[in-house]
Amino acid sequence: MSAAGSLAVAELTWAAVRREVVERLTVVGAASPVAEAQWLVEEAAPDLDAPVTTRSLAHLDAMLARRESGEPLQYVLGHWAFRTLDLLVDPRVLIPRPETEMVAGEAIDELRRLGGRLVVDLGTGSGAIALALAAEVTTAEVWAVERSADALAVARANLAGIGRAGARVRLVEGDWLAALPDELRGAVDVIVSNPPYVADDDELPSEVRDWEPVSALLAGPDGLDDLRHIVADAPAWLRRPGTLIVELAPAQADAVRALALEAGFDEAEVRHDLSARQRFVVARLR
Ligand SMILES: C[S@@+](CC[C@H](N)C(=O)[O-])C[C@H]1O[C@@H](n2cnc3c(N)ncnc32)[C@H](O)[C@@H]1O
Repeated sequence: MSAAGSLAVAELTWAAVRREVVERLTVVGAASPVAEAQWLVEEAAPDLDAPVTTRSLAHLDAMLARRESGEPLQYVLGHWAFRTLDLLVDPRVLIPRPETEMVAGEAIDELRRLGGRLVVDLGTGSGAIALALAAEVTTAEVWAVERSADALAVARANLAGIGRAGARVRLVEGDWLAALPDELRGAVDVIVSNPPYVADDDELPSEVRDWEPVSALLAGPDGLDDLRHIVADAPAWLRRPGTLIVELAPAQADAVRALALEAGFDEAEVRHDLSARQRFVVARLR
């Protein structure tokens, strides 16, 4: 921190340090400088009443330099909240989003409604949806599929962090439903996925395009390549009654609903996120 240059560390307070962080984040155009400064300072100094130390200041400075270079706050902090969990996140995985917390909530409700146990999370990334299901539904048996070995390493670390619930989660490396053992065919209660759904030439904010894994985002010319694949294959793996829940971009909702009915689902509903945008489809086999 430049404040450390003009003041002795012993004279600094965390409140003064935070003010400087807000200023520096404002200069680089961070979207929420005050909130971000709070996150960064609390990461460097869990006890804000404790004295400012050279070591914690150096930690803060290193984080701030990364944030100033455009790296997303979540990667700089190295962890982020998802429902009841605090997940490790780094550039090997997509940063879990609030709308995906709703998708996980829908899967939890659906599993309970069906009185089911067996649930599959396709494209688990950090493990967000799969681990939330295991943590919140104590009877759930969760299979989590991921194609990227790098992402799977992050999911494995997060699995180790959820305690006993982790014993009910299996992580599998591979391609969508084909990664599952054959005996699960026709036996799964709920399949849930937040797959890549961005069209190849869609504009993305630079914080996303430059830092988050492209293989977690892009899905062909209309962004539907992976959704088409998952929706078409899901009925063969679900039992009756059984449910598929997929996250998508608002403009894809009607197409995915139609794809679900074509694939043999008996009903398919579009649901909205907190900003009232069409955000996921719930498709059911009765
Ligand atoms: C949008 S990210 C979602 C990550 C996480 N579920 C979440 O919601 O934060 C999509 C994930 O699907 C994975 N993926 C892409 N293609 C895949 C495939 N063919 N089979 C399995 N996983 C795949 C990506 O590596 C990425 O982790």
